[in-house]
Amino acid sequence: MKKTVLSCIQPTGQMHLGNYFGAVKNWVDLQAEYDCFYGVVDFHAITMPYDTKKLRNNTWELIMDLVAVGIKPEHLFIQSLVPEHAELCWIFNCFCSYGQLTRMTQFKDKSQANELKGGDNYISAGLLDYPVLQAADILIYKADFVPVGKDQEQHLELTRDIAQRFNHAVGKEYFVLPDTLFTETPKIRSTADPTRKMSKSAGAKHFISVFEDEARVRKQIKSAVTDTGEVDPENMSPGVDNLFELLKASGDSVGALDSLMTDYNSGALKYSVLKEAVADSVVAMLTPFREKRAELSADKRALKDQIKASSFEIRKRAQQTVKEVKDLVGLMNVKY
Ligand code: AMP
Ligand code: TRP
Repeated sequence: MKKTVLSCIQPTGQMHLGNYFGAVKNWVDLQAEYDCFYGVVDFHAITMPYDTKKLRNNTWELIMDLVAVGIKPEHLFIQSLVPEHAELCWIFNCFCSYGQLTRMTQFKDKSQANELKGGDNYISAGLLDYPVLQAADILIYKADFVPVGKDQEQHLELTRDIAQRFNHAVGKEYFVLPDTLFTETPKIRSTADPTRKMSKSAGAKHFISVFEDEARVRKQIKSAVTDTGEVDPENMSPGVDNLFELLKASGDSVGALDSLMTDYNSGALKYSVLKEAVADSVVAMLTPFREKRAELSADKRALKDQIKASSFEIRKRAQQTVKEVKDLVGLMNVKY
């Protein structure tokens, strides 16, 4: 029996090289070995102020991105097409303490960021409840492993706490406790400011979109910051290190890594040569993704139908769990 893997991503804009190398590429690889469930979590996306006119389109765009880089449509679901996530979340709310939720670091960070942004200080109850919905995402498919970054560790702990409290209350080891699947994934930095991680929130020059046209990718890599100020002979500067990281992560299709590293060590490396190799390698990796995405985009209807069908299939699993859970906790189940 294959073990179950589940992970989810919020539809909050373009996929960039940081998300791809840091998370999504790993999801693609895990498909060979595990029974995989990958969710686009739009219920989570409405916990922060957002544009109601854009969300649905963002969700479909992200679905297209994921399929274009190699996630199989049958592994994908859209969270709001499986409303049992919200139903299980409600039940879990009653197996989770309010105090523990207020202590979650992501809640503290996000509610504070909302204040700092000069927002209207509106912190939704949904934001506080976010990790309980995440626990429902995970436990509803009885996932064994959840591939996520270190920042999600606390949410996984909460998920296990909820599962344990639930098991205790019903007097049965009903939920398996899921484990985090930490994989060594490269941390990609902004090419414009290699002291910070590549991310959307810092602005357009701080991320390279996976589906960017070739000229723009080359331009962004060409203008990457390398050494700033004094050069430390002992340590590679963050900018140069990031370029080597990108070369490795993108598969080094030009086969230049070893000789560039030798040149670096002997002090003979020209950064323009390194950048060209990185650009060639990244472009070679991205070109088929861009082509596949264009193909999908030309027949959106077909992909949408496929994802609705996969969400429907996946929903059956979720419905079964919720039925069992309702039986266990004393709620009603009837066939109408
Ligand atoms: P975000 O879009 O920031 O919510 O990130 C989605 C996923 O991509 C998370 O699991 C992050 O750990 C991962 N990720 C985002 N940015 C980077 C980056 N610059 N390097 C590595 N992983 C990243
Ligand atoms: N909170 C996760 C993030 O910000 C997204 C997420 C929602 C998730 N539900 C999940 C991740 C379930 C793993 C499993 O990246």
